Amino acid sequence: MDKATAKAPANIAFIKYWGKINEDLRLPANSSVSMNLSNASTTTSVEFDTKYTQDNLVINNKVADTGEIKRVSEHLDRIRKKARIGTFARVISKNNFPKGAGIASSASGFAALTLAASKAAGLNLSKRELSILARLGSGSACRSIPDGFVEWKKASSSEGSFAYSLFPANYWDIRDLIAIVGETSKKVGSPEGHALAQSSPFYRRRILGMEKKVKLLKSVLKREKFTEFGELLEEEAINMHLVMMSSIPPLFYWLPETLEIILNIRGWRENGLECYFTIDAGPNVHVICKGKDANKIKSRLIALKGVKRVLVNRPARGARLI
Ligand code: PMV
Repeated sequence: MDKATAKAPANIAFIKYWGKINEDLRLPANSSVSMNLSNASTTTSVEFDTKYTQDNLVINNKVADTGEIKRVSEHLDRIRKKARIGTFARVISKNNFPKGAGIASSASGFAALTLAASKAAGLNLSKRELSILARLGSGSACRSIPDGFVEWKKASSSEGSFAYSLFPANYWDIRDLIAIVGETSKKVGSPEGHALAQSSPFYRRRILGMEKKVKLLKSVLKREKFTEFGELLEEEAINMHLVMMSSIPPLFYWLPETLEIILNIRGWRENGLECYFTIDAGPNVHVICKGKDANKIKSRLIALKGVKRVLVNRPARGARLI
């Protein structure tokens, strides 16, 4: 087969990846834990053909810019090398979440690209091999390969650092309601952000506590203790953002609306409506709640000034061929 199509979800990290021990291999300074999202995915088709004189890339019906093409071509080179082929490819990629939603498409994008391109190149890779390859394209993409709730292991070698499924998607009936307040284009993207992390005086301190935190999160997940889980993921998001805000130069990903939502969530909780927040490298707030409370929380979020829309996600399967 020289053509294949794959669909992969974005993911939200409960324990975050911020900082690397190896830039080129995208080896993280700590392990992380995430959940795949049912309503935010990328579908990518890859066709290798001798008729192409260079790689070409269309994202959301538009010809990609040179920076995007370069990053995708470098990833295709890794796959071509493994498959021992030299053919160029046509890559067509579409996100099902709105542009401007502030959801990073690099995780779903590189996971879908890895699966589609490796299949189209004639490779039959294991989930572990796919996760390692996806990681080389974009770190958090390795977590979008396995199903449901996922751990990405830190390691000192490329072969040792991959993601695997802790629990399937139907394990726990929780939701991630993404309250969208800001636009996508970040002034400092995550590749540059990771590199700045070490300049924060709190970075070393953060990293020292991470493996213990990952262990705790996994144990809370296993026991399905929602309150402990929520408290831990809020503490973790704040911890990562403190490192970002104290980097030199500082990175402020929050908008005033971000803090407004955080304060509201705390108020709702005091009144018995249980939900917790986590935030990635952007201003949007991921509100984590039990399935039974999702509708109520969604209407409260939509009613807040500054919330443009709310995307509701369940836990989802990982990357698959379609
Ligand atoms: O995979 P990257 O380089 O886009 O980094 C992801 C960084 C965070 O989203 C902030 C945290 C995470 O673990 O997803």
